[in-house]
Amino acid sequence: MLPQEFLYQLKQANPIDAVMGSYVRLVRAGSLLKCQCPFHSEKTPSCVVYTQNNSFYCFGCHAGGDVITFIMKIEGLQYMDAVRMLAERAGMQVPEQERDNGEANMRMRLLELNRAAAKYYYENLTGNDKRGLLYLKERALKPEIIRKYGLGYAGESWNGLLDAMKRLGYTDQDLLTSNLCSRSNKTGNLYDRFRNRVIFPIFDLRGSVIAFGGRTIEKGGEPKYLNSSDTPVFKKGRNLFSMNFAKKSQSKRLILAEGYMDVIAIHQAGFENVVASLGTALTADQCRLMRQYAEEVVISYDSDAAGQNATVKAVNLLRAVGLRPRILHIPDAKDPDEYLKKFGSAYFRKLLEEADDAVTYELQRCRDGTDTATEDGAITALHKAVGILAGIENELDRNVYLSKLAKEYEISPEILKAQVGQEIKKRRKGEEKQKWHALTTAPLLADPLNPDAAGKLKEAKAEEMILCYLFRQPDALEDVLRQIRPEEFVTDLNRRIFLHLRDRLLQGYPYDLSLFSDSFTPEEMGRITGIEAMHAELDISTKAVTDCIRILKDKKLNPAQAAESSDDEFRANIRNLAKQKRS
Ligand code: UTP
Ligand code: MN
Repeated sequence: MLPQEFLYQLKQANPIDAVMGSYVRLVRAGSLLKCQCPFHSEKTPSCVVYTQNNSFYCFGCHAGGDVITFIMKIEGLQYMDAVRMLAERAGMQVPEQERDNGEANMRMRLLELNRAAAKYYYENLTGNDKRGLLYLKERALKPEIIRKYGLGYAGESWNGLLDAMKRLGYTDQDLLTSNLCSRSNKTGNLYDRFRNRVIFPIFDLRGSVIAFGGRTIEKGGEPKYLNSSDTPVFKKGRNLFSMNFAKKSQSKRLILAEGYMDVIAIHQAGFENVVASLGTALTADQCRLMRQYAEEVVISYDSDAAGQNATVKAVNLLRAVGLRPRILHIPDAKDPDEYLKKFGSAYFRKLLEEADDAVTYELQRCRDGTDTATEDGAITALHKAVGILAGIENELDRNVYLSKLAKEYEISPEILKAQVGQEIKKRRKGEEKQKWHALTTAPLLADPLNPDAAGKLKEAKAEEMILCYLFRQPDALEDVLRQIRPEEFVTDLNRRIFLHLRDRLLQGYPYDLSLFSDSFTPEEMGRITGIEAMHAELDISTKAVTDCIRILKDKKLNPAQAAESSDDEFRANIRNLAKQKRS
């Protein structure tokens, strides 16, 4: 355990709202600070940030904990590494005895190496070999934008970067881990991965260089783009190219493009709110990241078939996190970069303004591949369209599209409405079947975090109630200990929480969620925070606690009798007790 004083200072120096605020957009909802939960997909914010005790809890996915848990979860770090990261953030020293060559040190080193490499590539652009600079100029990039994005160049050499980085003291291992170099199977030596390419550094939201992309400058060079694979500081599907700039634009609308060059061209044209997913299909993580900043996303993918298929997928992913997708139609050019080069930014702005909403786009696509001039074709397309209308939740919206569509296909709105109504009914039935199936086949009250709780919900709840009471009134510990011993807790997780709490309190630590974060997993921290947060509306009396304790003891004495009242009854009882106390 780290010294209490250090942890206290660490938390003082890293207020949860400031730390979380650099990953997610916090919004004030009355007296509460909330955000879109970064750990699951959701449309409305259900993750609450508690500044008073420096914790967070998501009522949707039950993630929660203190500021250290947050960093562990979002950065995928071990406890000590999360502590080091927060210490660095606050310019604090982690007490000596706890220092080792942990992951955090390695991450720091990799980030420094990446920065040095980016600088090397950037300077290389204006070195003897000017082919990189020439290439970027041919692609109509201005010096300012080249500088802003820190674009660079890797020339012909197999060891230009390698030698330069070694001179700076980086090791073979550093260069391999960063994915900047590979080891040759033949010679066993290291060589530069990026050669004859213009280089696109990838920044995270804090401005660290976390990875690179490189485009070949040779005609037909393969692969066209080479990207860093995942490293300890880079997870492909979790970052967006240019999000560091787009975030600053403060726009509630983001433009989502396919490629590096599209992003930079669009940015250069004056639209700084543009991002791209990085050499992969768009991921749910990336959508959640966008949702932290924006409400609407204009998908500006290539006009080819691949781009259009990717658009359909992106629409669904964006909707799932509550973003409003719109679709840009690019006429007479294969991608935004080419369009801008041909027609300029004023026309591009017009395309943006005319971007279709997602439903219009989907309805349009129903006609693809069918000749709607024929009766057969029209029916096929209309059938698909009915499916889309049935998927629109809001009735008013649905009717607007419905009357438009009826006009387009020259059929009576009433008939169309009846069709859509049938489809909706059919879907509801299907959903209910599914729900019923899930309900009847789910293992009864399985709790993966606390497997003991299965079939002992009543006892588990009683334990939670006791814990919650102690979280609020740590002074009552002795009183509780007089009535119940840790061994008498029925479920393993709750017993461990109780034991840990008892030990720490007896050692003289004041109660704080952080008492737990060195000994419990981030998932368990979510549960602990949940116990604290979920019973917030209950004013647990000493009498209620005594009743809870009795439930646990009864269980020991007479299991048959204890099992008599149902879990619902139990919950009602507890609520009544709490009410009695209040009135
Ligand atoms: P495109 O082939 O559409 O590239 O790939 P582009 O952006 O139009 O490239 P230019 O204009 O020819 O330079 C779109 C994106 O897909 C990824 C890259 O992120 C690229 O920007 N990609 C493409 C790769 O990762 N590897 C490849 O070999 C090709
Ligand atoms: Mn292109």
